[in-house]
Amino acid sequence: MGRARTLAEAYRHFGTVDAAGTSPLYQRVAVALSESGPALRAIQVAPARNRNPALILAALHDLALSGRAPALAAAYAAADGAAAAAAAIGTLLDLTDEVVAVAVRRKARANETGRCAVLYPAVAEAAHRAGADAVVLIDVGCSAGLNLSVDRVGISYSNGQSLGDPSSPVQLSCSVVGDRSLPTRAMPEVVGRIGIDLDPVDVTDPDQARWLRACLWPDQPERAALLDAELALAATAPPLLLTGDAVEMLPGALARVPAGALPVVTTTWALSSFPLERRPRFLHRLDEAATHRPVSWVSVEGVGVAPAIPTFGDRHASGHSIIGVAQFSHSALHAEAVGRSWSRGRLLSWLAGSKSEAA
Ligand SMILES: C[S@@+](CC[C@H](N)C(=O)[O-])C[C@H]1O[C@@H](n2cnc3c(N)ncnc32)[C@H](O)[C@@H]1O
Repeated sequence: MGRARTLAEAYRHFGTVDAAGTSPLYQRVAVALSESGPALRAIQVAPARNRNPALILAALHDLALSGRAPALAAAYAAADGAAAAAAAIGTLLDLTDEVVAVAVRRKARANETGRCAVLYPAVAEAAHRAGADAVVLIDVGCSAGLNLSVDRVGISYSNGQSLGDPSSPVQLSCSVVGDRSLPTRAMPEVVGRIGIDLDPVDVTDPDQARWLRACLWPDQPERAALLDAELALAATAPPLLLTGDAVEMLPGALARVPAGALPVVTTTWALSSFPLERRPRFLHRLDEAATHRPVSWVSVEGVGVAPAIPTFGDRHASGHSIIGVAQFSHSALHAEAVGRSWSRGRLLSWLAGSKSEAA
């Protein structure tokens, strides 16, 4: 009983706090689940670690998108909160095992759209600093590998600048904070794309691609359209996905980079998932690889998360992230913070070369 109450509170909190103001559908559905004893008992069929609202709602959404929960799909399409609440409870009761199977097999994925707006100028800057006109991108903690399309998107910034391909099917927008312009360096030719993750998502697999869509909330059609465009673009040049721990996999990934191309390793909000002691080992791997060739690392990570990257003196856990560009060459490291990012790439401040660039 006490356990059910805890679960009920978690769903009520998700509805009234997390979804409130952002997703009227999830607000209504989560609160309805929190008030339904049968629905909560169905959720409890899942192991405790797989019962959280974001995961169960994504599992329900996945069944709706796959055609196995048509009433829920219709309610979401009509943005009908009352019908969605009833259909979500009905789906949980009728298809308990299916919902639980999805929740156990998958993990909730953050919507990755938007990172390229921050990565683009930083990757171009890294290549420029290394004097490279051809690069192989190696995204660490790549999830679905959407960062690996960075050279193939178009980006409009709020200060009137634009970068990338204006005719790309993926058009991103990003607010620029402050009055500093972004560098307009050309993106080098990308001659290879490699993603490393403990659990990468293969965008060419329809079930895995649908799961990414299912993790979006059903009343976010613009985000769903952007994700669809990103998935379609990525599927036309799928990266090589390497499954495993980044520290173990990096040497093999770097060895695949042909002579004449600069390896540019990217991490976006990935290193915080690594155990603390793995972060310096990740840096050490880059350093080792640079004994024989230059290696670049572009990071967009929380303040103080990326080892060796200066922080402008910002407090840790400030809520924003630091954009870092590091060059490893003959075991010498030049690491610089070039900007700040907020809201996972929706806002950006470019600061390279400014006087505030103290460590
Ligand atoms: C918070 S997600 C970030 C994903 C993506 N970079 C982004 O910007 O949304 C962290 C990713 O790192 C992966 N990850 C965690 N530890 C890892 C490790 N030791 N080696 C490789 N990948 C890891 C996780 O599987 C997950 O996909």
